[in-house]
Amino acid sequence: MAIRIGIIGAGNIGSVHAAQFSQLGELCQITAITDVFLPLAEQRAKEYGIAEVLASPEALIQSDNVDAVVIGVPNQYHAELAIQAIEAGKHVLLEKPMGINADAARQILKASRSSDRVVMIAHQMRWESVPMQIKEQIDRGELGHIYTAKTGWYRRKGIPGWGTWFTRSDQSGGGPLIDIGVHMLDLALYLMGNPKPVSVYGATYAEFGPKRKGIGTWGKPNWDGIYDVEDLATALIKMDNGSTLSLEVSWAVHMDTDNTPFVHLMGTEGGASYRGAQGKLLTEKFNKPMEVPLSKPENDENERLRLSRHFLSCIQEGKQPITSAMSGFTNNLVLDAIYESSRTGNEVKLDWNL
Ligand SMILES: NC(=O)c1ccc[n+]([C@@H]2O[C@H](COP(=O)([O-])OP(=O)(O)OC[C@H]3O[C@@H](n4cnc5c(N)ncnc54)[C@H](O)[C@@H]3O)[C@@H](O)[C@H]2O)c1
Repeated sequence: MAIRIGIIGAGNIGSVHAAQFSQLGELCQITAITDVFLPLAEQRAKEYGIAEVLASPEALIQSDNVDAVVIGVPNQYHAELAIQAIEAGKHVLLEKPMGINADAARQILKASRSSDRVVMIAHQMRWESVPMQIKEQIDRGELGHIYTAKTGWYRRKGIPGWGTWFTRSDQSGGGPLIDIGVHMLDLALYLMGNPKPVSVYGATYAEFGPKRKGIGTWGKPNWDGIYDVEDLATALIKMDNGSTLSLEVSWAVHMDTDNTPFVHLMGTEGGASYRGAQGKLLTEKFNKPMEVPLSKPENDENERLRLSRHFLSCIQEGKQPITSAMSGFTNNLVLDAIYESSRTGNEVKLDWNL
């Protein structure tokens, strides 16, 4: 039977999810949508042929016509809605970051552990072609032990929605670190083989946003709003197996950057680099450095479509998603530690207690 999907949040990402799931008609059907701003939910319902617009997230979560809930609302509301949905017996596809902070993520993880429902975090970069090609080589052992890695995403002038929820820490939890840094952290840890992070040293800066500089094109600014988050973050994360990861992200910076996300993996037998739609495998052979270029195939399908299909197949087959609640919690723990390290000036040990 087709899985019945309900979407909470009809904004940018809610619309992206609607576009993906509506292409998977043989596997699922979007039966309901809601948003605090109902006219937007009505508009999306028309665009994607969704039968019901429900008046509130609670009504959608309790609906008998919904098996799985997609949550695409500001970070502040992730935990309360995800927990309500899990407790109502729904499967959950939750946007990143899993929680606005590690405590919120911990609550979601606990709820998911006392239920048999699928809880998946939407990290579409794991489904991009070049990272998938790199993962295949890692799984074949071609890189050996990955002992250090570097990941990041420098946007030169990309502050999203100045003054909206994006730039208010009480609603977003932070700036580029929690917005785009969480994607890079998630991807790098996954490619490194999910080592357990144990400590973090980090620093964050706000040199553009407070001066209303570095504004990007994503989201409409609200000049009466608040900007109280960082616009650049840098950190070194140490793992229990001795490996290290350096993470660097910005929404705005004076730097010669091509604005693309990157991961560099350095292993005992080989290395791999990912940069946007391109990548490289690197090693030494016949006493010479050798490289194999990687690229995204021209007719490649959208990575978000692969992500949506994975969510549906986890529900059908009762599997754990690769971006599980545990991986979401891990990301939130690291992010909290980076913010704390920046505040205190000290290295922070991760608190794995549940
Ligand atoms: N995976 C990605 O690459 C990606 C990209 C963009 C955004 N996101 C994530 O998606 C989430 C939403 O971001 P966005 O860009 O779509 O924001 P947005 O502001 O465009 O949309 C959010 C929508 O949620 C609605 N909303 C707010 N509170 C609500 C509530 N309590 N119940 C129901 N609806 C509510 C708003 O009216 C708005 O329409 C965030 O967590 C963000 O981090 C992920």
